[in-house]
Amino acid sequence: MIPGKSIDPRSFAIEDRLAGVSRIVGVSGSKGGVGRSIISSTLALALADQGKRVGLFDLDFTSPSDHVVLGVERGFPDEEFGIDPHFVHGIHMVSVAFFTGDTAVPLRGDAATNALLELLAITRWGDLDVLVLDMPPGLGDTNLDVIQLLPRLEFLLIGNGSKVVIDSVRRGLDLLTELDVPMIGLLENMHRGDERAVESLALAAGVPFLGSVPYDRDLEDALGDVDRLRASAVYSAVGDVLPA
Ligand SMILES: Nc1ncnc2c1ncn2[C@@H]1O[C@H](COP(=O)(O)OP(=O)(O)O)[C@@H](O)[C@H]1O
Ligand SMILES: [Mg+2]
Repeated sequence: MIPGKSIDPRSFAIEDRLAGVSRIVGVSGSKGGVGRSIISSTLALALADQGKRVGLFDLDFTSPSDHVVLGVERGFPDEEFGIDPHFVHGIHMVSVAFFTGDTAVPLRGDAATNALLELLAITRWGDLDVLVLDMPPGLGDTNLDVIQLLPRLEFLLIGNGSKVVIDSVRRGLDLLTELDVPMIGLLENMHRGDERAVESLALAAGVPFLGSVPYDRDLEDALGDVDRLRASAVYSAVGDVLPA
């Protein structure tokens, strides 16, 4: 289903660049708006607070959000023999927003693949315990490209109890199973009341259920302010979702 390995020379540089990274976790899901960016950013912050060496790479090129969640207003990264991620709130961070500022980035097909290859090939992540990839929605170009380019990638899937999300996550799980992509498990976000649909889906699909992040009505006010984010229900819930 995925075409053979690209012969783009940059694809050969990528493993070298990631040689010091112990674990690569792709935070993915189905629909937009399920909370991948919130979970990616907050997970990175929680892991950094636990003393882990953490990277955060915002791969939603057309709608990057992690810099907004974490309140990061940095410009172009330093470069020498590649680029150095910004180091903010204990997180080594790269976002296309650091290069483009407030400008919209319309990317189609090849251009999205090129941006991914380029950033993976030039970024000096150094030694990390975990690199968190905040993925764009769906299973389109960038998700398929990282599966192909990063054989060590493990997916952490985000869903919520809405019927439209459940239906879409089910399709995504089927495809990832068919492609034999390692999955850490399925995490429920925006949990309310006694919803059980995400847990049931994980059980039916045979993937670990990683628990529930509650719907947090105060989250909006915490965005952009890491101290408030640290005090949020989301932060408390994501600290231990990554099994060793
Ligand atoms: N647990 C939560 N409680 C309340 N609001 C949330 C929660 N998780 C995400 N949101 C909100 O939902 C919206 C979409 O989240 P986002 O992380 O941008 O989704 P995605 O990256 O999957 O498109 C944002 O407005 C975010 O603040
Ligand atoms: Mg997002």
